[in-house]
Amino acid sequence: MDNLEIRTCANIALVKYWGKSDLPGNIPAVGSVSIGLEGLATVTRMQVHDGSIDHITINGDNGGAAVARVQKFLNRARDLYGRTECFEVRSSNNFPTGTGLASSASGFAALALGVDKLLSLGLTRQAVSQLAREGSGSAARSVFGGFVEMHAGPEAFASKITDGATWPLEVVITLTSAAPKETGSTEGMELSKRTSPFFESWINTHEADLSIAREAIAERDFEKLATVSEHSCLKMHATIMASRPGVLYWNGTTIDVIHRVRALRKQGIPVFFTIDAGAQVKVVCMPGGAESVEKELLAIPGVIETISTFIGGEPQITRTSH
Ligand code: DP6
Repeated sequence: MDNLEIRTCANIALVKYWGKSDLPGNIPAVGSVSIGLEGLATVTRMQVHDGSIDHITINGDNGGAAVARVQKFLNRARDLYGRTECFEVRSSNNFPTGTGLASSASGFAALALGVDKLLSLGLTRQAVSQLAREGSGSAARSVFGGFVEMHAGPEAFASKITDGATWPLEVVITLTSAAPKETGSTEGMELSKRTSPFFESWINTHEADLSIAREAIAERDFEKLATVSEHSCLKMHATIMASRPGVLYWNGTTIDVIHRVRALRKQGIPVFFTIDAGAQVKVVCMPGGAESVEKELLAIPGVIETISTFIGGEPQITRTSH
């Protein structure tokens, strides 16, 4: 019976996805542009087994919310393709889970790739991306590496813009908190949509950001990418903060890191920040720039750890028969 080992990577959005037009299926209300992170990987071992229930283990646990989410995803995949097979899934991350480092993205991308291969569905990469989206919106992007765009609309899927090697930017992930976030992305998005007075402007101004990001990547224009990325990040967090009740994902160190990144830029160092639904800051540097930036960030009181990586994250699937 086939046994797969699937390595997928987290991604971070530079132009953010925040808000759904439809909750079931995670249909995003806006498109997004992301980069795959080579160093933040999930390894998922997966096979079909003869039993009548799935066996799921995530980071050594076989119960809890993460396992329940995977179970829901597998049920949905079977429903979508009219199949009945059950799976054994063992998944682990090489990075902290549930702290805003997008483990759901790499996790569900791996599962979608695995379901396709193990059930011989013969899906296109676009259809695998749509399947991954059923687990988590951002997972649709992690079925590709490099620079990726997620398209909004009822069929929402991601596609590759270009490989990481074409513009090998570096990223310093700066951990400012080890605690799991209090408000998950799904919940936070629904709250923003229902209650934030800025949500409508967030949606209405989004297409302009996407088109600037596409241009910046095509032109390898770092400053343009920096400006639109920080704008999209701060606009998303402003929308989130203005919800009722207000949600604040940042801590004091998050803000100190933002200020340090801006100070470095003033000194002429090309660098920008982005922050997802959590307290960690992802700092994007020009090729060769991460080493000195990482030293600066590690010196900030409250920074727990940094992970230096680069754009990549192409999924790898190894098939072993036994
Ligand atoms: C802030 O993909 O985690 O990271 O679709 O509800 O699972 P669900 O949400 P998720 O949200 C990601 C939000 C974000 C921005 C982004 O990655 O684009």
